[in-house]
Amino acid sequence: MSESPSQVIHGDCLHTMKVIADSTVDLAYLDPPFFTNKHHSSVSRDRSRKFRFTDLWNGLADYAEFMDVRIRQIHRILKDTGSIFVHCDTNANFLLRAILDDVFGPNQFQSEIIWSYRRWSNSAKGLLPAHQTILFYSKTDRYKFNRVYGAYSETTNIDQILQLRGRDEHGVSTYATDPSGNIIYGGDKKGVPLSDVWEIPFLNPKAKERTGYPTQKPVLLLERIVEICTDAGDLVLDPFCGSGTTLVAAKLLGRSSIGIDISEEAVDLAQRRLAAPIKTESAMLKKGRASYVNADKDALSLLAGLDLLPVQRNAGIDAFLQVKIDGSLVPIRVQRAGETIMEAASKLARAANSKKAAKAVLVRTHKDHTLFSEGMLPRFIELIDSTALHVGKRIAELLAEKVTEKAANTSLQGTLRDKAAQRP
Ligand SMILES: C[S@@+](CC[C@H](N)C(=O)[O-])C[C@H]1O[C@@H](n2cnc3c(N)ncnc32)[C@H](O)[C@@H]1O
Repeated sequence: MSESPSQVIHGDCLHTMKVIADSTVDLAYLDPPFFTNKHHSSVSRDRSRKFRFTDLWNGLADYAEFMDVRIRQIHRILKDTGSIFVHCDTNANFLLRAILDDVFGPNQFQSEIIWSYRRWSNSAKGLLPAHQTILFYSKTDRYKFNRVYGAYSETTNIDQILQLRGRDEHGVSTYATDPSGNIIYGGDKKGVPLSDVWEIPFLNPKAKERTGYPTQKPVLLLERIVEICTDAGDLVLDPFCGSGTTLVAAKLLGRSSIGIDISEEAVDLAQRRLAAPIKTESAMLKKGRASYVNADKDALSLLAGLDLLPVQRNAGIDAFLQVKIDGSLVPIRVQRAGETIMEAASKLARAANSKKAAKAVLVRTHKDHTLFSEGMLPRFIELIDSTALHVGKRIAELLAEKVTEKAANTSLQGTLRDKAAQRP
């Protein structure tokens, strides 16, 4: 990767952009204040520094004016092949769309990208907000666009992947066939073109990349934007750079960058990040969401018929029974093949304790060869034998009864035979 210069400038982006020459920037990404009418503040991960920025306005017109003049500057300094990506949310997306239509022209609207992420929250009423919007406009029709392909979904069949598509006499899309009606294979395709809905996880609190800056965006999100609209060596601008996420993404991809921020702490932080760029990979993106659905199917099949909530990604609990004891749900775990009952119990106990469960159920599937008595189990664990173990045990008892019966019969017959022999 060639070294591409990155610059972080302290100041109001309006004034700083005014000194940037016309048609020099390849991509502008901005994540400005969203019109939340709030103060945003937080502390660095090591709690040594405070970060804050203000998002307070005298109404929508005040905000519109602030954004309008800055978007006009961006339009001036973008190259004809350049593009702008404006990050926003429902507070002002409608307004920014109107400003961008006005400055760039409605025909230069390319996409409304939905950045979607999962959140767990007990929101009181209404739908849980789980997306933000990124408006993508180009300066002209000659804008740079590098195609990106994603994986086929699990429901795409092999024919859809391999067969060439064509149109029938009515213009309807069909699989292409030769004059004899044989299917024509088009060879391996590259995947599905990237859609305008991007599922990229929010930075989790432990992610190495996380700086503590309020509203910090993930590098993975910015990398995707930089990748689709620029080439190596191009210049990327972020006029509201905050912690410098865009600059880190640009650096990792070999692009030059300019970041501007009105907060001195943000500029200092962005410079530190550029000196040692960190990106947190997302296992979900690499392996797909399906890879997370890893509740043990064999274990769950043993619990079929119970009203339960399967648990993903937990070594100690397979599911929660939908019943509350002392105010908490009851975790249940099935002993695995090759696992001793005490190994299974200690995994369940650890996980159940962390969930503050009053009771937990352990299903024993086999007898292991270790010394075990039920008194060794933590008192809050109920040990229950699986149906297979019950049936196996009963069958063994029945067989043992048969053997005893047979032995008893044999000895009875022997006695009768002896008695008969003794008769005169
Ligand atoms: C939403 S944050 C950006 C977060 C950033 N994308 C990140 O990943 O860390 C918005 C930033 O805009 C900055 N800002 C607000 N008004 C500004 C202005 N007039 N010029 C430059 N920066 C400004 C704030 O200080 C804040 O850091």
